[in-house]
Amino acid sequence: DAVERGEYRHYMQKEIHEQPRAVNDTLEARIGPHGVLPNIFGVGGDELLAKARGIHIIACGTSYHAGLVARYWIEEYARLPVSVEVASEYRYRDTVVPDGTLFVAISQSGETADTLAAMREARRRGYLATLAICNVPESSVVREADLKLMTRAGPEIGVASTKAFTTQLAALALLCLRLAEQRGLERDRYADLCAQLAHLPRAIEEALKLEPQIAELAALFVPLEHALFLGRGAQYPVALEGSLKLKEISYIHAEAYPAGELKHGPLALVDEAMPVVAVAPNGPLLDKLKSNLQEVRARGGRLIVFADESAPMDTGNATGTTLRIESGGTFIAPAVFTVPLQLLAYHVAVLRGTDVDQPRNLAKSVTVE
Ligand code: AGP
Repeated sequence: DAVERGEYRHYMQKEIHEQPRAVNDTLEARIGPHGVLPNIFGVGGDELLAKARGIHIIACGTSYHAGLVARYWIEEYARLPVSVEVASEYRYRDTVVPDGTLFVAISQSGETADTLAAMREARRRGYLATLAICNVPESSVVREADLKLMTRAGPEIGVASTKAFTTQLAALALLCLRLAEQRGLERDRYADLCAQLAHLPRAIEEALKLEPQIAELAALFVPLEHALFLGRGAQYPVALEGSLKLKEISYIHAEAYPAGELKHGPLALVDEAMPVVAVAPNGPLLDKLKSNLQEVRARGGRLIVFADESAPMDTGNATGTTLRIESGGTFIAPAVFTVPLQLLAYHVAVLRGTDVDQPRNLAKSVTVE
């Protein structure tokens, strides 16, 4: 056990630090200088993807959050309608499946009971094809799918998913790029997105360097029982993922909201005992997010902002902390900004003395309904 963990105290910490390698492996021999390589989804995959007129993504937990990010990407760059649903709801719902819809199941283990049952149900519902994005090649989800794209995270031992998530995002980014290219995304834009994706392992490596500052910040959360996470656009699922990590391993009650929803309810909760973590990379929604954060400040809430290096933000004040991250571009920013949130949850849990790799009541793979 100690040998496998090497220099790290927990598997989770080791797996967080493995992300540059894991993402690099997931992209390896799938993206080249001219873009995404042919047929990385299996034989005949590109022809099937070219026929897709819409996408339904189904997953659970962290994998569901990866699907939510993909919805923003695919709708923006490939202009295809995407819906994302948790598997346990999908399987019992009488879904309408428009002609030419591609079914995508995302699962680290490939054995999650709800995801597998949803995929079996999808076979009866008349999809164009099923695609599995998965980390375990011999798993049931992979065996039963028509098309597959393996993440190459390697075994993930910590119950809290980390490298599985960022490699899922890398795989979904490849899917998005293939779909976008087929649907005529301008060459320059396509080249820029490919360059961003190729840079993702380096960008994650840079984000990991924030660990000492984040470990210091973590002390603030130790005596608290609640936290709020905010994001906008493709960073909203990142906020969801950050809040899931925190509640899973530190047992602090955390919720995530798209920042624009703040005034529709959760603002009532904000006071000095409710820290607000905001993911604020650069982009068209930054100004809107800033005005949402102003509402938090005005109510005495303690703000922790993860901001893009180049984003014009206040660099901290009496009730707040801003940490700067080089996002590497709007496309890959969700994957990069996930890393500090993983580190935050990890260090809070360590300080609270919980069983980080094996949190109470949870199993790594949920193979029963
Ligand atoms: C995340 O930290 C959890 N361990 C959990 O939400 C997990 O992502 C979910 O159970 C889905 O698992 P899967 O990816 O193996 O299908």
